Amino acid sequence: GSMLPQIPLPIDIMGEWKNSQGIDLNDRDTLLDTARKVNAVDFQPEGIDSVHEDPHHPSGRSRAFIEATRTSNDDVHGAITAAQAAYPEWDLRPVEERAGLLEKFADVLEENRIELMGLVVKEAFRSIPDALSEVREAADFCRYYAHRARVDMPSIRLPGPTGEYNAMKLEGRGTFATVSPWNFPLAIFVGQNAAALVTGNTVVAKPAPQTPMIARRIVELAHQCGIPHDAWKLVTGGADVGAELMSDTRIAGVAFTGSIATAKRIASTLLVDEERPIIPFIAETGGINAMIVDSTALPEQVAADVMTSAFRSAGQRCSALRMLILQEDVADEMLAMLSGAMDMLYLGDPGDPATDVGPVIDRDAYDKLMSYRETMRPRWIKTVEAPEEGLFVPPTMISIDEIEDLNREWFGPLVHVTTFKAGKLKETVQRVNAKRYGLTMGLHSRIQKSADIMQTWARVGNLYVNRSQIGAVVGSQPFGGEGLSGTGPKAGGPHYLPRFCAERAVSIDT
Ligand code: NAD
Ligand code: ALA
Repeated sequence: GSMLPQIPLPIDIMGEWKNSQGIDLNDRDTLLDTARKVNAVDFQPEGIDSVHEDPHHPSGRSRAFIEATRTSNDDVHGAITAAQAAYPEWDLRPVEERAGLLEKFADVLEENRIELMGLVVKEAFRSIPDALSEVREAADFCRYYAHRARVDMPSIRLPGPTGEYNAMKLEGRGTFATVSPWNFPLAIFVGQNAAALVTGNTVVAKPAPQTPMIARRIVELAHQCGIPHDAWKLVTGGADVGAELMSDTRIAGVAFTGSIATAKRIASTLLVDEERPIIPFIAETGGINAMIVDSTALPEQVAADVMTSAFRSAGQRCSALRMLILQEDVADEMLAMLSGAMDMLYLGDPGDPATDVGPVIDRDAYDKLMSYRETMRPRWIKTVEAPEEGLFVPPTMISIDEIEDLNREWFGPLVHVTTFKAGKLKETVQRVNAKRYGLTMGLHSRIQKSADIMQTWARVGNLYVNRSQIGAVVGSQPFGGEGLSGTGPKAGGPHYLPRFCAERAVSIDT
């Protein structure tokens, strides 16, 4: 209604592409049937006896699994050699051919939806709805970047005096290195690599050490679709393998998603060597994401959107709500509603279709979150019971006195709560901005002026009004932040691909 700025939809951005439709998990029969099939997917990588220490309640990867899936340092550099050799031929192909291959790959991801969801549920412990969203988002990235490549890549003529021909074009830069996290082992992994490939780069991809099997299967499917083996190489392992990849001065660009600490480590590696060219570094990192709720907000809607934003995916989303800022006058009423909503959360195994909140990714994450939560015990506003076995961190609301009291990202289902005074919205936003993260922010309000203040002053990549603040949709909510939250450009947005490209202009005296 009246809260909407009047901006027309640009035709070339919407263009000839459509978001994946997936399947309807709101339909109970579809959900149960999907859950049965997803749970039946076999997840026992060949030659590895035990993936998890305890297959029912994953408590960390077994050492054998981590060692068996690690690429040697020689093979890391070998992968770059092969990808570099494959680059000229791939880059010289017409953009239409690469875009077509990505679209075929998107179809194949959807055809293999159940198997991929099974891997996501079993290797990354994501819920069934989250696993479906990943397949959809991965397919969306491929189709959207295929569409954008057709728009962005062709040469454009530029003006000049009579007798002078001027033109400019985008081309691949060489071999990109991509590094991705475990929390979107399918969507982010596919998105980074699809962007690098469609623009003519070849790529060496390093997924998170927690989720190598999903990555292996994806790359295998891509190769089956006709994307050349040496155009998309995979190396697996942890920080050491990532560091080895970054140390190779032949890489032509880096797309990274993960923590700010790792982003800074990588950035410094890329700058040390004097001989090394300066290359693009695209980093998407974390956030201390706030939601501001004023006295005009609907408590039921706030409750639903806080549950989704703070606790879905066990809070393991970079976009997740970390700091809820309630208008003082309505804080008690809102907290009562939120506590009631928390009592209704079902904590269960990832493959259980009823699960709202599953376990966290590994023992290390569990220990860190639980020990922090324990130190904050005197400040608990509300927590819930969790199953005893398994790495379940109980969703918890923790009170803080001031916005300034939360200064790091806790990557789990813990939400901090503080208050602000009526009439102080702008100051409140500026205090959040002062943390210098800038990923997502939310507002719940029925006041036009408050929405305007947020749009003017919130220094975040993604602002959400009167809705949840997770689950950005490719092409509709281009995703990514600023400051400590990342370098941009935004994934799933119209300015993403050029950052993967070399821009070359030619001027000819005719
Ligand atoms: P992480 O930084 O620990 O790891 C991310 C990736 O970097 C992994 O593949 C890891 O092996 C690799 N890595 C680690 N050290 C490296 C090094 N020195 N050189 C090269 N590679 C190295 O992050 P994580 O725990 O896997 O993921 C969670 C973090 O990711 C959170 O901070 C979250 O906010 C962030 N995240 C951001 C986005 C976004 O789009 N902004 C999306 C998802 C996750
Ligand atoms: N793109 C993901 C989200 O919006 C991280 O939740």
